[in-house]
Amino acid sequence: MHDDDLDDLDLAALEAAESAHLRHLTAAEADGDERAVEAALRPRSLGEVVGQARVRDQLGLVLEAARLRGRAPDHVLLSGPPGLGKTTLAMIIAHEMGAPLRLTSGPAITHAGDLAAILSGLNEGDVLFVDEIHRMSRPAEEMLYMAMEDFRVDVVIGKGPGATAIPLEIPPFTLVGATTRAGLLPGPLRDRFGFTAQLEFYEPADLDRIVHRSAGLLGVSLTPEGSAEIASRSRGTPRIANRLLRRVRDFAQVRADGVVTRGVAEAALDLYEVDALGLDRLDRAVIDALCSRFGGGPVGVSTLAVAVGEERETVEEVAEPFLVRMGFLARTPRGRIATPAAWAHLGLSAPAAGFDGTLFDD
Ligand SMILES: Nc1ncnc2c1ncn2[C@@H]1O[C@H](COP(=O)(O)OP(=O)(O)O)[C@@H](O)[C@H]1O
Ligand SMILES: [Mg+2]
Repeated sequence: MHDDDLDDLDLAALEAAESAHLRHLTAAEADGDERAVEAALRPRSLGEVVGQARVRDQLGLVLEAARLRGRAPDHVLLSGPPGLGKTTLAMIIAHEMGAPLRLTSGPAITHAGDLAAILSGLNEGDVLFVDEIHRMSRPAEEMLYMAMEDFRVDVVIGKGPGATAIPLEIPPFTLVGATTRAGLLPGPLRDRFGFTAQLEFYEPADLDRIVHRSAGLLGVSLTPEGSAEIASRSRGTPRIANRLLRRVRDFAQVRADGVVTRGVAEAALDLYEVDALGLDRLDRAVIDALCSRFGGGPVGVSTLAVAVGEERETVEEVAEPFLVRMGFLARTPRGRIATPAAWAHLGLSAPAAGFDGTLFDD
């Protein structure tokens, strides 16, 4: 009895650890020890950036014009989902301008004073990178857009009637803001960026080139088919492509002769439960519950979360965006619905009357 309890506990712990690990494989955010590897794989110049042709061209023009004028470039806002290259581009902007990069992030700026301290330390032409800029405090935001426009801010000293505003001149600098949620930025802040780059998910061909490039840098030998297999399971995201490549390399070294072929990539990613379209265990659990247990829906997201044993937020913010993007799941006012593509992906046949359009009528 006692032993059984222990076993159950161990199993639960093991499963939790494993599912955290598996989730991490397809998570678009980087975690702690991953940052060092990422730094080694980052393109250093615009010319090295793969894909995002439009953004690359536009940004190249902005930087070239600034160089010709001998001035700091306009402020740049980089917006897009995690793992698509915002931090990389911020570093490239500084590098291409031959300017130092000052790095901070929205959550680190809780008071206007924090920002004043950063701004007062800037030199002419510096690039100030504010990651997750939508998470800055409101007073800091107001100070920031004054600085962006006038290169001057008022630092308020003291409180109440005795408070005085001390004007602070700031040398011309370039602000590069990055955000996953451009919609959360207040209009006045958004308007003060001279250029906004909207990063898009990558095409498989671009991801394929990124996998090749990273393999070269990491000294991994891989065949074109092996690379394509990794690219097609990477959810349009370079960070995930690089991560899958590292896991497949482990597999190739331990279980094969070190070369990443299609067979090796398939076997490795199957082992890690990343399927042919890049869905992981949670993604599949969600559409599986939706189809097999709720007849395809509509079902409320809370119910769905209970059915897969996850928090509602996890289902909503982690699994659903990709499932919606893949066209496997639709969010309707009456609940979540599985599309015919979801049934097909699970190898199930959709009930004949299950998806007849009337579900969407409200
Ligand atoms: N266009 C690209 N070409 C090559 N590698 C890229 C590209 N965009 C991103 N990467 C790689 O993906 C990883 C994540 O990029 P990053 O700039 O940190 O994304 P973000 O800041 O948008 O979350 C980096 O290690 C980088 O090597
Ligand atoms: Mg980043």
